[in-house]
Amino acid sequence: MTRLQLCANSPEFSRLAFGTWRLHNDAEAATPQGLLERLRACLDAGITTIDTAEIYGLYRVEELVGQALALDPGVKSRMEIITKAGIYVPCEFHPERKVAFYNTTADRLVKSAEKSLRFLGVGTLDLFLIHRPDWFTRHEETAAGLNQLMKEGKIRAAGVSNYTLSQFAALSRFVEQPLATNQVQFSPFCMDPVFDGTFDQCQGHGISPMAWSPTGGGRLFNEDDEATTRLRQCMAGLSAKYGGATPDQLCYAWILAHPARPMVVIGTNKIKRLRSAAAADAILLEREDWYLLTEAVRGRKIP
Ligand SMILES: NC(=O)c1ccc[n+]([C@@H]2O[C@H](COP(=O)([O-])OP(=O)(O)OC[C@H]3O[C@@H](n4cnc5c(N)ncnc54)[C@H](OP(=O)(O)O)[C@@H]3O)[C@@H](O)[C@H]2O)c1
Repeated sequence: MTRLQLCANSPEFSRLAFGTWRLHNDAEAATPQGLLERLRACLDAGITTIDTAEIYGLYRVEELVGQALALDPGVKSRMEIITKAGIYVPCEFHPERKVAFYNTTADRLVKSAEKSLRFLGVGTLDLFLIHRPDWFTRHEETAAGLNQLMKEGKIRAAGVSNYTLSQFAALSRFVEQPLATNQVQFSPFCMDPVFDGTFDQCQGHGISPMAWSPTGGGRLFNEDDEATTRLRQCMAGLSAKYGGATPDQLCYAWILAHPARPMVVIGTNKIKRLRSAAAADAILLEREDWYLLTEAVRGRKIP
């Protein structure tokens, strides 16, 4: 598995990360032992990075990850942890909340990061992301929280998720260490970062983006709309050339091949599929095949 520094001052991560958003969709995965088995499978396949967030599982996933890691210090010592903060919704722990809201004030970020450290049972977070831009907080204020966490050694690097170009540029003005990444939705089904300037900005800043929902949230497997059907047919046509690659592998390979060098956050809870995903790192899609897949999903000739 290729290793990657998201920017010059970032820790090293595996090119594919294990995403934990959907853990509670799978009763087997959502237990400390079940999760530990998945983490072991990840490590065997070279996936050493976990992507989680304060809000996942309505604030229950980080604690579950901590419980799984506590079962095996050997696993824990080999994994890097990425987490995110800033989204607050009414839930069983917070029935007093009237509405979902964002909060990326310095005080909130520090409290959230400290809670993540406690739940995950680690001394430092390898990467801490602002989960979504907060429309009600000044960028200078958000940066103060990130700067404090860096100075106190509670996080090794800071970045953002779902930020627009201007939000990224504004926050960048105030952080003392460059932002390490922008984690955005990217897949053959969602090419927005290619066209809205996000990937150009990342290249300009010398950082790698992270791609979430790489299979379109499972659309590649579950939907029969025209674009998905064309994409699957195109993948079937390319499979033999790439050693019998499966649709998920070709999908991840398509993302990995983008010159912005994205990290891929995979979303499967199935051990077999985690292993298969990891093998995609070795598939080097040729230029024309990348465009062939792109044309298939877009349904029109490349102009
Ligand atoms: N920053 C953000 O705002 C943000 C937003 C969304 C997600 N994320 C991160 O990105 C990660 C991945 O996102 P995602 O869960 O949407 O990823 P995804 O891969 O696009 O979708 C995962 C879904 O696809 C299914 N799937 C995957 N491989 C399959 C296969 N080979 N055959 C059949 N079904 C398959 C999974 O089911 P099975 O489990 O049954 O395989 C799961 O239901 C999340 O866990 C989270 O860490 C971040």
